[in-house]
Order: sequence, then C-alpha cells, then structure tokens
Amino acid sequence: MKEAAFQQCINPACLANYAVEDVRVSCAKCSSLLDIKYDWSRLPVPKSLNFFEHRWSTKGTGTAGRLDFSGVWRFRELLPFYRTEDEVVSVGEGRTVLQQADLLAGRMGMRPGKLLLQYEGLNPSGSFKDNGMTAAFTHARMVGAHRVACASTGNTSASLALFAAFAEMQGIVFIGSGKIAFGKLSQALDYGALTLQIEGDFDACLRRIRQIAVDHPEIGIYLMNSVNPFRLEGQKSIMFRILEALDWQSPDWVIVPGGNLGNCSAFAKAFMELKELGLIKKVPRLAVINATGANTLNQLYNHHHLRWNNGAVEMEKIANYYGALDESNYHPHTIASAIEISRPVNLPKALRALDFMHGVTREVSDEEILEHRAMVARWGFGCEPASAASVAGLRKLLDEQVISKDEQVVCILTGHELKDANATVKYHTGIDMKAAQDNAPRGPTNGKYANAPVPVADDLAAIIKAIGAEPEKIRNIGTGTGHLPATEY
Ligand code: F0G
Repeated sequence: MKEAAFQQCINPACLANYAVEDVRVSCAKCSSLLDIKYDWSRLPVPKSLNFFEHRWSTKGTGTAGRLDFSGVWRFRELLPFYRTEDEVVSVGEGRTVLQQADLLAGRMGMRPGKLLLQYEGLNPSGSFKDNGMTAAFTHARMVGAHRVACASTGNTSASLALFAAFAEMQGIVFIGSGKIAFGKLSQALDYGALTLQIEGDFDACLRRIRQIAVDHPEIGIYLMNSVNPFRLEGQKSIMFRILEALDWQSPDWVIVPGGNLGNCSAFAKAFMELKELGLIKKVPRLAVINATGANTLNQLYNHHHLRWNNGAVEMEKIANYYGALDESNYHPHTIASAIEISRPVNLPKALRALDFMHGVTREVSDEEILEHRAMVARWGFGCEPASAASVAGLRKLLDEQVISKDEQVVCILTGHELKDANATVKYHTGIDMKAAQDNAPRGPTNGKYANAPVPVADDLAAIIKAIGAEPEKIRNIGTGTGHLPATEY
C-alpha cells in the first residue's frame, strides 16, 4: 500500500510515484520535477486553520516547544513527510513579520491597510531560504546524508551553511566568482561551509552541482537547491503565516520576486492543498516579478505565451529560448544579484502556480528596483535589492490597473537589508564599495577559524578534487560543459 506521504512526478501524463526516502530531483521516467504528495485521508488534518493557534503559547526546550516555536513546524500537519518529530532539524526559523505598511502605501497611492510587507529577511540567516532548508535538512537527516551542497546567488548558501553546521553535516556551496553580495559570502565562510568560487555564473554553478550530485552518487552529495521538492514544502509556510497574520483570511494578491522560481511554486502548492482540504475559501492572485536583466519567465510567459496547459508545457519553446541565449552568449545581469538567473529550474512548477493562482508576470529595471528598495527602507524595515522587485512590480501593476487600489496586497520581502549593504551605500553616496573590495590588498588570514573561499575553474575534475573526493575513485569524469537537456530544467 502507498505510504501517506510520497513523491510524485508533476507531469499529469506520467505521475510516477517514489518513496519519500528516495533522494531524487527529477522523475526517473520523464525527467519532470517532483512534488511531495500526501494521502490526506490517512493523516490527522485540522478541521480549521484556527487549530494552529493553540501552539502560540507553547514554551520549553522539549520537542513540542522546539517545533511550535518554529514558524514552519507549528504548521507541521500541513507538511507531514517526516517520520518522527525528533528528526526535524530546526534553528527557530520562520518567526517573521507581516507589517501593515501604511506609510509606504501612502507613497504608492494606496489606502491604509491595503499594502502589507512580509519580512522574510527576519529569518536566522536573513532570508526566506531558512523556511525551505529546515524541511530539506530534515529529509537529509532522514536519509542519512552527511554531505550537502548547493549552487547559489548567496542566500541559499548562507542558509545551507548555517543549517549544515547545526546538523553536523559537511556543507559545500558553489558560487559564481564575483557574483554574490559580500554579506552573503561572509555568512557561508563564517558558518564553516566549503565555499567554491566557480568561474562562471549561477546557471553554470547549478549545472555543475546537479551533474555531480546526480551522475556521481559515489561522492554522496545531497542537493539543497530548490529543485529539491522538500525545500518547497518548508517554503509553503510563508503563506500559512500570512494567513495567520490576517486572521486566516486570504489577501487579494501575493507579489514575489522570481529567480529560480521555487518560492512562487511553493506558494501555489500551499494554496492548492489548503483549498483541497477545505481550509480556505479564496485563493489570492499571484504576481511574479523578474529583473529586466534576468527575465526568462516574463519573456516566456508574456512574449512567447508559454503556459502550464494542464501539464502539457511546450518544452521545445523553452529549449529554443535557451538555445537562443546560448547562441548570443547571453549572461543575465542585474543589481538584484539574488535573482540573476536565466534558466530557472522550477519553470514548469511556476507555470502551474500562475495557472492555479490566476497569476501575472512582469519585469522591472534595476533603477525601479533601487528606488523601491530605498522606499521600503525609508518607510519600512528595509530589504535587499531583489526583494524590492516585488514592490516595484506592484507599482507597475497599479499603474496598469491590473491591481486596483481597493485590493489588499502582500509583497514578499525575501532578504534582509544588510545582505547587500554595498548596494545601499552606493545608492546614497555613489561610492562603489564592491569595486574597492575587488581591488583591495589581501593580507594573511591567521584566525583560528578562518575559512577562505576556494577559486575553482568550471571543470568537473577540478571541482571534484576541491570537494575532497579523489578523482581516480570517481567514475567517468568528463570535462564537458554541455547543458542538461531542456526537459531537465
Ligand atoms: N529573493 C532573494 C533575496 C533570493 O535570494 C532569491 C533566490 C529570490 C528572491 C528568488 O527566489 O529562486 O525561489 O524564485 N535566491 C537563490 C539563492 C537563487 O541561491 O540564494 P526563487
């Protein structure tokens, strides 16, 4: 008999099932992405969302105290894939704030109470990623993983490094050389992760790490990017907390920046399940905002009319689009380095999300991002540049009258302002601290816990060596830099 929790291919023409203990990031039969699914009839599901309120008063260091304290696990009946509560890896994530941002609303021409900001930068590692990492690390512990890794534009690496140290696993992060904000790099180093600076951008890093994790199981890498479906289970909780803060009423709109498109996919999954369980009546609409310098989703959705189409996504449209990017030697570029991604791995899930939540996509320029980031700082608690894409996107959708001034809107602020202090200082003073850092003299690093990044060529054998695995023990190392087939994106 099928277990109450299992993994399932998202392609409705396939729907292959896998055990929850399987470690995989795509379907063995058709290469599509995977979902975590539940047979709710066999699980203790609350009859109403008010059920979760009894956990607000739990205290103490026992398992219930630890789980109820977490803004992810206090909703554990809605992500019940784990075997025992003791196995859950939690650092006290998800205790974030939904701010009624009336001062900012006034500047945006909206009435009080209509604009709300969800500050995910208030997580322990300073970004929304902790919501997903707690779930993926719980799964990693379930399957006995010791070595965990990710490619990252910075926040995933900071979060992974924090959780890996906490769970006593080896954390390895792949970052594009010169691509990430200093605050994020400093976290990966400080928390003790092996930090490989690969010559190339995020897309190249992700391609490499997938190649190593999937083709070389003998190295034993557990992949922590959002292509891992367990990450998205944790990220559903951002929506649960918004509902909680609104006394279990859905807002009219949720607006989120789009990078690898894990967050928007997780949000829609949360609402699909809540709807299926009869726990909400209304599903909000979704807006996913790209930066103009990394606008694959918006281009494919609005200009190439790519749709979920009941699961029959036209993959050749995606392959052709990526082929054209390769031909023109295109590399994404935006001040919002967190979302500087041109091949978003969760694209099909994002299309499903847009379909289910009756969504829209837009792109915003770096200038719009910087101006709206400054506004969030002046009239709110602040955020990093990528996060402000949501507010810049709101401005665009208000101007276009897609969103009306009477609707209630939640913008997700994905990362903390101090993640990228350079962007802030440059905006206010014109001083480019990043350029100064790149040319700064390097002294010795004598600190007892010093953990410098390791520069590595975009070469499989070199990367495997840097990870500490002996290349002679590794099967079939090629040096190919070729792309994965489009169906695997
Ligand atoms: N905002 C911030 C601050 C991010 O760090 C990211 C993604 C996003 C938005 C986009 O979220 O990928 O779910 O669409 N950062 C990843 C990283 C890619 O490596 O830290 P998404």
